[in-house]
Amino acid sequence: MGKVYYVSKNVGLGMLVLAVAALATIIALSIAYDKERAKNRGKPGDEATDSTSMPPPPTTPFIPKEPWDHYRLPDSLVPLSYNVTLWPRLEPDARGMFVFTGHSAVVFRCVKETDLIIIHSNKLNLTTFYGHHAKLTGLGKATVPTIQKSWLVVKTEYLVLQLHSRLAVGSLYLLYTEFLGELADDLQGFYRSEYIEDGVKKVVATSQMQATYARKTFPCFDEPAMKAVFNVIIIHDRATVALSNGRDIDSVIDGVPVSVTTFEPTERMSTYLLAFIVSDFVKIQSTQNNSLLVRIWARRKAIADRQGDYALSVTGPILQFYEHYYNATYPLSKSDQIALPDFNAGAMENWGLITYRETALLYDPMLSSTGNKERVTTVISHELAHMWFGNLVTLQWWNDLWLNEGFASYVEYLGADYAEPTWNIKDQIILSDVHKVFAVDALASSHPLSRREEEVNNPAEISEMFNTISYSKGAAVLRMLSEFLTEPVFAKGLSSYLNTFAFNNTVYTDLWDHLQKAVENTPGMHIPHTVHNIMNHWTLQMGFPVVTIDTRTGILPYPISLQYFSPDINSQMRVSGEDWVLANTNVSGYFRVNYDLYNWDRLLSLLSTNHQALSIINRAQIIDDTFNLARAKIISTTLALRTTKYLSKERDYIPWDSALRNLDYYILMFDRTEVYGALQAYLKKQIQPLFEHFKTITANWTKVPTKHTDQYNQINAVGYACGMGVEGCRELIKSWYRQWMENPHHNPIHPNLKSTVYCSAIAFGGVEEWDFAWRMFKNATLASEASRLRAAMSCTKAPWLLNRYLEYTLDPTKIRKQDATSTIQYVARNIVGMPLAWNFVRARWGYIFQYGKGSFSFSNLINGITKRFSSEFELQELKKFKEENLHVGFGSATLALEQAIEKTTANIKWVTENKAHVLKWFTEESK
Ligand SMILES: *[C@@H]1O[C@H](CO)[C@@H](O)[C@H](O)[C@H]1NC(C)=O
Ligand SMILES: *[C@@H]1O[C@H](CO)[C@@H](O)[C@H](O)[C@H]1NC(C)=O
Ligand SMILES: *[C@@H]1O[C@H](CO)[C@@H](O)[C@H](O)[C@H]1NC(C)=O
Ligand SMILES: *[C@@H]1O[C@H](CO)[C@@H](O)[C@H](O)[C@H]1NC(C)=O
Ligand SMILES: *[C@@H]1O[C@H](CO)[C@@H](O)[C@H](O)[C@H]1NC(C)=O
Ligand SMILES: *[C@@H]1O[C@H](CO)[C@@H](O)[C@H](O)[C@H]1NC(C)=O
Ligand SMILES: [Zn+2]
Repeated sequence: MGKVYYVSKNVGLGMLVLAVAALATIIALSIAYDKERAKNRGKPGDEATDSTSMPPPPTTPFIPKEPWDHYRLPDSLVPLSYNVTLWPRLEPDARGMFVFTGHSAVVFRCVKETDLIIIHSNKLNLTTFYGHHAKLTGLGKATVPTIQKSWLVVKTEYLVLQLHSRLAVGSLYLLYTEFLGELADDLQGFYRSEYIEDGVKKVVATSQMQATYARKTFPCFDEPAMKAVFNVIIIHDRATVALSNGRDIDSVIDGVPVSVTTFEPTERMSTYLLAFIVSDFVKIQSTQNNSLLVRIWARRKAIADRQGDYALSVTGPILQFYEHYYNATYPLSKSDQIALPDFNAGAMENWGLITYRETALLYDPMLSSTGNKERVTTVISHELAHMWFGNLVTLQWWNDLWLNEGFASYVEYLGADYAEPTWNIKDQIILSDVHKVFAVDALASSHPLSRREEEVNNPAEISEMFNTISYSKGAAVLRMLSEFLTEPVFAKGLSSYLNTFAFNNTVYTDLWDHLQKAVENTPGMHIPHTVHNIMNHWTLQMGFPVVTIDTRTGILPYPISLQYFSPDINSQMRVSGEDWVLANTNVSGYFRVNYDLYNWDRLLSLLSTNHQALSIINRAQIIDDTFNLARAKIISTTLALRTTKYLSKERDYIPWDSALRNLDYYILMFDRTEVYGALQAYLKKQIQPLFEHFKTITANWTKVPTKHTDQYNQINAVGYACGMGVEGCRELIKSWYRQWMENPHHNPIHPNLKSTVYCSAIAFGGVEEWDFAWRMFKNATLASEASRLRAAMSCTKAPWLLNRYLEYTLDPTKIRKQDATSTIQYVARNIVGMPLAWNFVRARWGYIFQYGKGSFSFSNLINGITKRFSSEFELQELKKFKEENLHVGFGSATLALEQAIEKTTANIKWVTENKAHVLKWFTEESK
């Protein structure tokens, strides 16, 4: 190692996006089993010919004849306002069924002559008036056609009215419906959630409309561009409180046995952002800027235990941050956030009434971990970002979902950083989004961010858009764009976009146009191509570029941001002696970097002698890039493994976590083979110093590290030390768990370490440890505590306990429906549980598919179960599973199943090619 001059030179940052984009060829990493195929699929523009990476049609030439056979509404009618009244019954009726009743009047304008009214309606029993499912009247002078006939189309979820004559262009009409629906426990539309408080069963009526479930609540034009004003009335029991998007303005209880709560008219908004909730929840509140009402709602006990306090304390600052960042005031008169016992997604950004899983909103300082706290902050920040971006201005159609979700997934770090400035949370986007999505985007079955509108039609295709590519790649490329344009210019364009399209809809290029204008209006700023042209390279093709730098020839294919250390700084990338070059210094570029071996050697030697010469995220980047370049066979596997040798000296979280995530792949591929012994010995040797470090800085485990990321790193240290058999670790953990079992009312384990300790103690224990965890799970009043125990119970090595646990996942009295798929995934993560979970799922796919229908998590289930698949036999089983269940279908897991087949194929190949030298390397390095 030679001289290191601490001179950083960011060469051509301004050129970064342009240059890479202009020259990029997208390389499908990790998959080398079918080079031709991978290459063809990578070509921009031919994604439409690729039938496996997309949900099946719309390539079929069949064109439905009738307008009601199309999944998209005709463009002849435009809604203006609705008056909706809903009355959910929180007691079962005589049949034992929970129902809701309601009526709705929608005012719409005819903009194209038609004698048909087509409006969404799903699973609603509509009252008939003179034999028809609705009443039609006119507003103003319009003469009103009479209804000839009306019918429901189940497949496309429509109510259709055929009229005797045509509606007049420009005229307003009013369509009135009365309906009865089931308040089911299916987590979709208007549904019910149940929980036990003080031994009493309580029922909550709540809603989840995104993406296509408003139509299951009342007949409506259920597309995001069909914005309207909603006047909502909710009828409910006097002992309960009703909430909706607007502020409640009136509650009549005189003379009627129920309360009738009227809400202020909403702003012009999309149906998927509506929310209706009736519960006996209580709230805490504060006032922002003297007028904005901010409230946190939850179960009585949770509020009494002050679990909502943290959420309330960060909401104000985060709202303030966005008002400043967007240069736009919060568009509504109140902000409600509510924690629900049953909720399918993590959270939902309903305008003015955001719904959360309890674990994403509630935080108990005594019982919750740092990770729980961070989740609350980032999820709140994500949802509040949508109040403007997504809600005030909404994408026209679901094909552009990536912009909505990618945007919120990027700026959530900015909002969270403002609320918790000491956490350094912005760095974590590298782990949680950028590196995470590289892994998915490297597959040949990936897809471009942007899809054409015609490719996304039915509800299954829409729900498939909610995937890692949309969220995390979206976040990564928007972060890159923001850093390229600089944050002030990005924010200026954003603000102009939001102000121009407020209460209206857009397509993603509208944002590019406004960013372009911001660039042009910034004196001295100049970009060589338009934002539009630059971004096309990142949104229209899948995958990402690999930038190769040869430091011996000085040939650098395109200017990129470089950290350039050299005694004689020249603008060439040519270096000699002990000097080295590192590219993509802020890891803001969505690409990987490869160097000549000479430079790699220098970087590795720098890591081993003076790793702190490189920033934390660059250390993580080197590790992640090498492992993935090795997967793509661009560099050797041993070069990647060599980046982990310096870890015995590494004390920071982000590089360690990056290494462990990559080594996890080796663990999954080899934990059933003889490689595992050597791997374990090596990792034990590397993690031991970290374990000792934390023992010291926590005074023999009696304190908690002060730094946010140290707290995470301690969890990794303890978890892996115990897993790899570091002396003293298992005994330590067992003794903590024992103490708790002896005195269940006093848990001595620090919340940060609970997940790890519970899991290890159950793994190394027996039925006694397991049953204790089950009892504590059932008794837990804090959702995050319950969820830690639920994960830990999957760690047992006893097959009978695992099988019993799998059975519990299909019994909603034991494991909530929302938690079923993740529990099965946890079991599959366990080496003993994997074959059991796989057998369980394939034996009952039909049932499981029905049981959890409509949830977004089938794809996670398939991903989770097949993670370890790496033999020809497993591949055949997977293909057979696909064949045998074609008639049942895979819904939102269709793409995941293709990816699983592709990944298994790649794993087989990788294991075959790497096993021998990986074994040799670990054996030598663990000596
Ligand atoms: C809808 O409700 C608003 C506010 O209560 C009322 O002014 C209006 O007349 C109602 N419209 C219809 C068509 O019922
Ligand atoms: C709707 O009507 C069908 C057929 O009469 C009936 O089976 C169903 O239970 C009804 N739905 C509700 C929520 O009552
Ligand atoms: C913020 O908005 C105000 C008025 O809406 C405008 O005058 C100002 O230029 C905006 N600032 C930025 C940075 O866009
Ligand atoms: C919404 O945008 C469209 C197209 O830009 C425009 O014609 C329409 O007037 C806008 N509507 C509102 C309510 O701003
Ligand atoms: C930790 O334990 C060791 C041995 O049990 C002891 O020597 C040392 O003083 C302890 N350190 C602290 C800070 O308590
Ligand atoms: C079970 O929950 C109840 C009610 O929250 C609590 O009082 C009791 O202490 C809990 N039992 C144990 C063993 O933690
Ligand atoms: Zn979101």
